[in-house]
Amino acid sequence: MYDLLYHHLLTRFDPELTHHMALDMLRYTGNLAASRVLVRRLLASATDSMAISAIGLDFEHPLGMAAGFDKNAVCIRGLGMLGFSSVEVGTVTPQAQSGNPRPRLFRLPEDQALINSLGFPSAGMLAVEHNLRRSRPDRLPVGVSLGKNKVTPLENAHMDYSSVLERLYPYADFFVINVSSPNTPGLRDLQTRDYLSPLLKHLQTAMVKYGGIELPKPLLLKLSPDMTWPEIDSVLELALEFRLAGVVATNTTTDRAAIHSHYRDKPGGVSGRPLRQRSNEIVQYTYRHTQGQLCIIGVGGIFSGDDVWESLSSGASLVQAYTGLVYRGPTFVKQVIQQIQQRMHREGIQKLQDIIGSEVKRN
Ligand code: FNR
Repeated sequence: MYDLLYHHLLTRFDPELTHHMALDMLRYTGNLAASRVLVRRLLASATDSMAISAIGLDFEHPLGMAAGFDKNAVCIRGLGMLGFSSVEVGTVTPQAQSGNPRPRLFRLPEDQALINSLGFPSAGMLAVEHNLRRSRPDRLPVGVSLGKNKVTPLENAHMDYSSVLERLYPYADFFVINVSSPNTPGLRDLQTRDYLSPLLKHLQTAMVKYGGIELPKPLLLKLSPDMTWPEIDSVLELALEFRLAGVVATNTTTDRAAIHSHYRDKPGGVSGRPLRQRSNEIVQYTYRHTQGQLCIIGVGGIFSGDDVWESLSSGASLVQAYTGLVYRGPTFVKQVIQQIQQRMHREGIQKLQDIIGSEVKRN
């Protein structure tokens, strides 16, 4: 049904316009108790034995909404209604900014991928604070992706990240440092030790200041899939040194090797299927090299229950998806949950949490 709608109707509209229509639909239906309950009931599937405890929080099941879909926290309830077990909002910048010129989002159906060069369009942290205050559901863990404004020089980037952290600290359960988006000039340089070490130090101090020394909220770092192994080593070393709660692997890639679409030369980051293998390699590598000391959120090309399974057994405790929802539609989470359930049944797994890292431990 969604396939027909997608191919015959939705692809006729500009992708960014379709995205805004989806956000509006989710906002309206998610904020109205009657429609929320109805849709939730239609999309409900049993998630017993799929609960995951990670980063000090409880998740109904592992599949959360990745950053970038709900940049301004306008439809968290709607995403919960679709079944996601957590939502990472943002990336949020201190000041509102419009992002890069359009067109900046392309669908690549033959590759099951998207290319985006949005460049952090953000309503700014005050607007996001307002939205989170109004419509944050109680039981759904919410993360905030921290970013910097385009005009802020890299030398001052730490101020931007900590401003957003400070402003939104009371309204989120976890925070993710985004220094891995390819669409803000120079941003990925913040992944190098010279920048990253002082940035993490600054944020760690800020965390303790806002959250108290005993129980600061979990802080994670989102990785770029385009780093070399030595670069990843250096980032993981810092993540351990600064006692981050975990990493999110991965952001979008600038690599075009696996892309067939005529849009392959559009600027920006590729998400979806072509990212799957690289994302999983980084999950495995991180799990092996940090011996489970960091929580890993696997993201990149998650479309099915098997993809989730692969990510968890490679060492991820949680997963996130964005492009999968675009291509599979509103029943995406339900389909994935059912596929995981069938596989648990087939393989005689009682608790999904037990498979985390199983593939890496076996080899
Ligand atoms: C993203 N992604 C993203 N990530 C992030 O940390 N901050 C952001 O603002 C955005 N924005 C964004 C916009 C669009 C249109 C897309 C498609 C993606 C990256 C996203 O969170 C995720 O890491 C990748 O998309 C890989 O996951 P999927 O899409 O393959 O499931």
